[in-house]
Amino acid sequence: MHKYRTGDKTQALLQSHRRYFRDGLRYESVKAKAEANGLVTPMQLLVDRAEGDFVWDLDRRRYIDFQNGWATNPLGNCHPEIIDAVHSAQKRYGYHWEHPLRLELAARLTDVLPAGLSRVSFEVSGTEAAEAAVHLALCYKQARHIVSFTSSNHGEGLGTNMLSAYSSDNNLYMEAWAGGVIKAPYPYSTAIPAGMSEAQYVDYCLWYLEKHIPGYIASAENIAGILIEPGLAEGGNWIPTTAFMQGLRRICDDKGWLMIADEVLTGMGRTGHMWGVEHYGVEPDILVFGKNLSGGIEPCAGIAARDEILGDNPRASSGSTFAGTPAGCAAGLKTLEIYRRDGVVEQASALAERARSRMADWESKYGIVNQVRGLGLLIGVAFTGLEGAEGGNDAAISIARSVRHAALGRGLWAICESEPTVRLYPALTMDEAILVEGLDILEEAIAEVEATVESGGQLLGDYPAIPSGVVGF
Ligand SMILES: Cc1ncc(COP(=O)(O)O)c(C=O)c1O
Repeated sequence: MHKYRTGDKTQALLQSHRRYFRDGLRYESVKAKAEANGLVTPMQLLVDRAEGDFVWDLDRRRYIDFQNGWATNPLGNCHPEIIDAVHSAQKRYGYHWEHPLRLELAARLTDVLPAGLSRVSFEVSGTEAAEAAVHLALCYKQARHIVSFTSSNHGEGLGTNMLSAYSSDNNLYMEAWAGGVIKAPYPYSTAIPAGMSEAQYVDYCLWYLEKHIPGYIASAENIAGILIEPGLAEGGNWIPTTAFMQGLRRICDDKGWLMIADEVLTGMGRTGHMWGVEHYGVEPDILVFGKNLSGGIEPCAGIAARDEILGDNPRASSGSTFAGTPAGCAAGLKTLEIYRRDGVVEQASALAERARSRMADWESKYGIVNQVRGLGLLIGVAFTGLEGAEGGNDAAISIARSVRHAALGRGLWAICESEPTVRLYPALTMDEAILVEGLDILEEAIAEVEATVESGGQLLGDYPAIPSGVVGF
């Protein structure tokens, strides 16, 4: 693991600027502690240049890009047509709120949104959009509560932090701000209590929503809706079952609650359909979009809802100064045009099949691989300690981070944060040969880390470990 090191130029720039950034004060002590324990600090990366399926760091090393700007580059890095469209909009409008592109983009979006969602409102980020969706739901239903799920992530604002739930630490010191949020269990497969089958656990989670919450936590009339990611992205790329998603829709219908799908990450083709909800045959009442709509260049996010929800709801005002910038809307319009012209969602679906077949035997071949899972090109490889080894989840996280580190050292950029999962978000149009080359590198990294674990060698980081390379950034 020691052979993979941050490049000299990158290291020097990070070192000299660490004093300006969040958590910079604790970087040296965390690093020293890790090293004292014979552990390795993670490679860090600063992008010097990005193009198509690749990025290059300040030390001129090339990486295949599965990190994808945190899943925001559906067409690969620096797509020239998107850049041209963004530049034209900037030259023509600079920044004004009152420009025609936002109207055009709203119309184009409704062409591709689930049929009932005929109205759109823009925001800058996914965070703002998720908060706008909740605000809209509360005002429309004139109710005080929203149900959200454990392990979910809806953003980093005060409101979205309250709705999100990576762990019990998530809301520490902010508990008082979360008064209206009710958290429910998300039925992901490794959280199944002993003695329960997956189907029983799904039934339990639905029962919790349908009976337990209205029976013991808040009256049904005072609940506005359920906010769900149709694939838990930041929480580890978990995919819910169709039974769960359809059960959720049925409960919302029965109780008069709104189903709010946060498709910031799962939307716009990431899962192999335009929207994640399409996999389950359900239609939400409000849908949150962002990330991919930017075409990888300029932020653009928002919400869509049925006419009666968003068409006449003056209390639910939203849309900050820079919501729906001319450049962001131009990026969105060009992105949608390319999606249609080039069959981007179909390409994503075919590419996902190739990825699935390439990774098909990893679970049986490697003891440290717990699960290869995903939907379309939302792919996660979850790790576990070797049978009989100590350390539990911490060990698994260290293994996952070590795999990400070894992959980075070999020229593949992927994500690993607080879950024992390496997450992969290739561009939806990635060249198939490059996708396979990236997966070859990942497999080499897995094999190397497995051999390291078997021989009792050094893994990455101290645990609680240095996250995926951004402490002190
Ligand atoms: C499902 C989901 N919702 C909301 C957000 C927040 O979006 P943004 O980071 O653009 O504010 C994210 C970000 O990762 C996300 O994955």
